[in-house]
Amino acid sequence: MAKVLVIYYSRTGNTKKMAEFIGEGVKKEGLEAVIKDVGEVEADELLRYEALIIGSPTYYGTMAGQIKQLFDETVKFHGKLEGKIGAAFASSANIAGGNETTILDILNAMLIHGMIIQGDPMGDHYGAVAIAAPDSRVAKQCSRLGSRVAKLVKKCTS
Ligand SMILES: Cc1cc2nc3c(=O)[nH]c(=O)nc-3n(C[C@H](O)[C@H](O)[C@H](O)COP(=O)(O)O)c2cc1C
Repeated sequence: MAKVLVIYYSRTGNTKKMAEFIGEGVKKEGLEAVIKDVGEVEADELLRYEALIIGSPTYYGTMAGQIKQLFDETVKFHGKLEGKIGAAFASSANIAGGNETTILDILNAMLIHGMIIQGDPMGDHYGAVAIAAPDSRVAKQCSRLGSRVAKLVKKCTS
């Protein structure tokens, strides 16, 4: 079975909750979802999954240092993530607090790795976003993101 790795960093639980909703969306499509705190992830592990969904709180408009550090560690196998599917999500304290720039920074690193990114014309366009504690809108968008990534994995691996 194709596997999707959902990685998050979260100090106060908001981004972690989003990761859980995303995992539910992946499972709805019949794929395995592994959800991990970035502190539990060894960079080499990323090679074992068909898709990576990475989320961060917004720190000064970009990803937390812990997520950036993971990306920096991937340089040792640069080129080997090519063709994997990627997606991102972010939490912030404020509307217009930089959650979309955080997502775009994560997607930027994924694109440099040669990963495949799908936008969303109807839902959260760049990836799921939350302002503070995730509400029912966020739950829906996160689940939607997980399901869309899983569907794309199935398309690309069939
Ligand atoms: C160092 C730091 C920088 C932050 N920078 C921003 C910011 O630029 N914009 C914003 O809206 N929120 C900012 N926040 C708030 C967090 O993004 C927000 O509280 C988020 O929901 C925390 O997610 P978590 O519960 O997963 O830790 C910042 C918080 C910290 C600790």
